[in-house]
Amino acid sequence: MEDSPILIRPFRATDLPDLRRITVESFGSVALEQMLEHKFGVWNGRDWKARKADHIDDDVAQGAEGCFVAERGGEILGYITIRLDRVNGKGRIPNLAVVEEARGLGLGRRLINHAVDYMRAQGMKLAQIETMASNAIGQHLYPSCGFEEVGRQVHYAMRL
Ligand SMILES: CC(C)(COP(=O)(O)OP(=O)(O)OC[C@H]1O[C@@H](n2cnc3c(N)ncnc32)[C@H](O)[C@@H]1OP(=O)(O)O)[C@@H](O)C(=O)NCCC(=O)NCCS
Repeated sequence: MEDSPILIRPFRATDLPDLRRITVESFGSVALEQMLEHKFGVWNGRDWKARKADHIDDDVAQGAEGCFVAERGGEILGYITIRLDRVNGKGRIPNLAVVEEARGLGLGRRLINHAVDYMRAQGMKLAQIETMASNAIGQHLYPSCGFEEVGRQVHYAMRL
């Protein structure tokens, strides 16, 4: 299995539980949802993992054809999601993750390149991706894939 090639293929509905699991295993300290929980605790009986995994459901609901998975011998090692704003010609990558055991092999870069090719083929004129200031890998990887820093955002929240 280790020797099988890693393929990037379109998302299938049956992948969703794996993508949710990979998301909660992967994001941890780099997820805004976890930072919210760290500061405000759990509310509505839903922890950061439940909320973060829901983001993947939203990405899939918005456009499953723009979601791709990296698979080796039937095992999903990572995924990328894409949202297209066709009116404004902008594609955005809301979520990207690679399982810990497969990191550092260039898979994140392959998924990004795949997503960028897809957006271009769909007629998009601009590709967008964001990362948290705490995410050193994102801040290294995205510029090295051709993205340029445009601006920084500060997140605020208050208990109601
Ligand atoms: C971001 C992520 C998808 C990258 O996946 P990956 O398969 O390891 O990515 P790649 O192997 O293609 O590239 C990783 C790059 O980061 C570099 N890197 C690794 N650790 C690093 C660190 N602590 N600081 C800076 N760069 C780092 C690697 O050297 C490599 O760069 P290089 O190709 O120039 O050598 C993966 O780390 C992940 O799932 N992280 C958790 C979820 C996440 O942060 N998602 C993105 C949210 S914006």
